[in-house]
Amino acid sequence: MNWVYIRDLKDHIGERVEIRGWLRRKRSSGKIHFLALRDGSGFVQGIVERSSVSEELFKLAKKLKMESSIIARGIVREDPRAPEGVELLIDEIEVVHQPEKDFPINKPDHGIDYLMDHRHLWLRSKRQFHILHIRHEIIRAVRDFYNERGFVLIDTPIFTGSIGESAGNCFEIDYFDYGKAYLAQTGQLYLEAACMALGKVYNLGPTFRAEKSKTRRHLIEFWMNEAEVAYYQHEDNMKLQEELVSYVVQKTIERAANHLHAIGRDISKLEKIEAPFPRITYTDAIKLLQKKGFNVNWGDDIGGDEETAIAEEFDKPVIVERYPRKMKAFYMQPDPENPDVVLCDDMLAPEGYGEIIGASERIWDKELLIERIKEFGLDVESYSWYLDLREYGSVPHSGFGMGIERVVAWIAGLEHVREAIPFARTLYRIHP
Ligand code: 4AD
Ligand code: MG
Repeated sequence: MNWVYIRDLKDHIGERVEIRGWLRRKRSSGKIHFLALRDGSGFVQGIVERSSVSEELFKLAKKLKMESSIIARGIVREDPRAPEGVELLIDEIEVVHQPEKDFPINKPDHGIDYLMDHRHLWLRSKRQFHILHIRHEIIRAVRDFYNERGFVLIDTPIFTGSIGESAGNCFEIDYFDYGKAYLAQTGQLYLEAACMALGKVYNLGPTFRAEKSKTRRHLIEFWMNEAEVAYYQHEDNMKLQEELVSYVVQKTIERAANHLHAIGRDISKLEKIEAPFPRITYTDAIKLLQKKGFNVNWGDDIGGDEETAIAEEFDKPVIVERYPRKMKAFYMQPDPENPDVVLCDDMLAPEGYGEIIGASERIWDKELLIERIKEFGLDVESYSWYLDLREYGSVPHSGFGMGIERVVAWIAGLEHVREAIPFARTLYRIHP
C-alpha cells in the first residue's frame, strides 16, 4: 500500500493511498463521519460514508477518540472547497492506539497557563504547527544568508569560564575541580577568536540569561544567531544586519506564506521590510521620547515601552546607534568623536516587538580592554585568552547577535515569545 504524506495528497488524486496520522476531531451526521486528520505534514478531512463502507468500519469510526493514532486507507478525491484541495474517502482504518482518556486540549478557550502546562500536547494544534514551521523557515533563511556570503559556521560552547555579557544575569554552575563556570549568555567572545582565524563567522545556538524580567519579550533560554567579521567597522556591521533581516523576512514570506496566512499574519507589513533601514542615534532617540512625553534623560535605559514608542515612528526596523558607554557591555569600542558613547547599535522591530539585534564594534586595543573589564567588575584573569586576541595581530572587528524568538514573534505576529520556541523556559516554568 502506498503510504503518502498529507502534504503530497494532491499529487495522488483518484488513487487509493494510505495515510498514517492522528484524529484531530470528529463530526458525524447519521450517514457520514467527517474525520479531521493530521499526520505532521498537514491536515485533511477523511470521509467515512455509511452507504459505501462495512457496518463494522462505520462503527469503528464512530468510537474513535480525539488523538487516536490511526492508519487510514482510501481514495483521494479533489475538493476545491477544502483548504488542502483534497479529501480522503476512507474505506479502511487500522487503529494504532486508542486513548482511554479525553485529550486535554479540547476547547477553544483554554487559559495560557493551562496550555503551557500541556505544551507537549498543545504542539499538536494547528496554530502551533504553523508557528513551528515559520520558525523552521526563519532559521533556514538565517543559515542560507551566511552560507551564500562565505561565512563559516562556528559552534560556540555552552559552558564557559568567561562571562560574555554582564555578571548580573549569569547562570553559575559548579564545574568539577575548576570551580565556578557559567552557561553562555553569548558566544561572542569565541566568535571574536574564530573571526581572526576564518574572517567571517557565525553561530546559532541556545543562550541563557537568569533574567528576573517577566515580559512578553524575555525567555531564560533563547536561541541567538551571532555573526562576527574581522576588519568590519560599525558602518559595515549595520549594513550586514540590515541585509540579514531583509533577507530573512523576504525568504520567510516566500517559503512560509501558507503558514503566515493560516495564522492570520498581515503580510503586507512584512513586504516593506527591505534594506536600508532608518537610523537614529541614542541621543536623538532620547529627544524623540521626550517630545513624545516620556520622562527620560540622556543616560537612561531605553525600556520596552520606550522601544515601542521609537519603533512606531517607522514602518521598517529602526537602528538606534551610539549608546552611552556606561549602559552597554565592556567590550564595545568607544566612538572616536565622542568617548561617552560607543560604536554600537540595537535594531528595534516594528509593531512593538522590541530589540531584535544587539551589536557593536569591539575594542581591539589590549590596554583599553583591560581597563574596561576592571571597570565592569569582571575578573581580568578569566579573560587572558580573550586578551591574547589583542596581543597577536589585533584588528578592528565587529559583530552582532539576533534573538531568534523575538524575530519569530515579530514575523509571525505573536503576542508573546513563549509561543515562538517549542518548549519555552521562562521565570516560572521549567516543565514540560
Ligand atoms: O543584546 P544582547 O544581549 O547582545 C549580546 O549578547 C551580544 N554579545 C551579541 C553580539 O554582539 N554577538 O542580545 C542579543 C539579542 C537581543 O537583541 C535580543 O533580540 C535577544 O538577543 N535577547 C533575548 N531574547 C529573548 N529573551 C531574552 N532574555 C533575551 N535577551 C536578549
Ligand atoms: Mg541588547
